Amino acid sequence: LARGSGALDLAGRHVLVSAGGTRERLDPVRFLGNRSSGLQGYALARAAAARGAEVTLVSANVALPDPAGVKVVRIETTGELLDAVTAETGSVDAVVMAAAPADFRPARVSEAKIKKAADGSAPAIELVQNPDVLAKISQDRARADQVIVGFAAETGDDTGSVLELGRAKLARKGCDLLVVNDVSGGAVFGSADNEAVILGADGAAVEVARGSKSALAHVIWDEVVRRLAP
Ligand code: CTP
Ligand code: CA
Repeated sequence: LARGSGALDLAGRHVLVSAGGTRERLDPVRFLGNRSSGLQGYALARAAAARGAEVTLVSANVALPDPAGVKVVRIETTGELLDAVTAETGSVDAVVMAAAPADFRPARVSEAKIKKAADGSAPAIELVQNPDVLAKISQDRARADQVIVGFAAETGDDTGSVLELGRAKLARKGCDLLVVNDVSGGAVFGSADNEAVILGADGAAVEVARGSKSALAHVIWDEVVRRLAP
């Protein structure tokens, strides 16, 4: 345990964590997806359970064993993620959206496998935007006292630094905390380590030095616990 005290400071709380990457079907054998491993979300679920929480883990397409003592709900698409999360928002004290939802889905799912054309041409795939789960639950606020946490992997560009983009995303989503990963240096996907800044809608900025995903998970729960109603 990263926290030496082994505090049960989430006892009596129910939390929801989403993990992994959603997939959007294109035809019976193909999908659009992303490289999220689910490791950070699973570390968050395990850390919350170790601190005494009742944990629901909404899991999208990961190859990881179920954490002990955690209720795992398996989903595939961003639409299913929205349904699974909104089914529970009324009964949870905190939501941590560590999943990487596909932002787009094919406008049409082909019933039959898409075949190659003899003339060498490729099909155009029309995409439509998926619902934004984090923005929706933050705006709707099923419970006023709920703490809602998002994640953002940013590289910084000509429109702003990693932190500026993080602040703007936090405001746009309307969540309480945003865990910002600087991914300009390389990939975090599938990596055992993570480093981050946790931004708060209250102006807080907590820097978390490079370390295990479990260590980051515990710092995130520290920040959540600080904001939960007594
Ligand atoms: N998220 C979500 N639903 C989506 C997309 C993202 O709930 N359809 C959540 C993610 O789980 C994450 C946070 O929003 O906690 C930020 O994800 P990110 O991909 O950085 O945000 P986007 O709004 O999709 O912005 P971008 O265009 O930079 O991808
Ligand atoms: Ca996105």
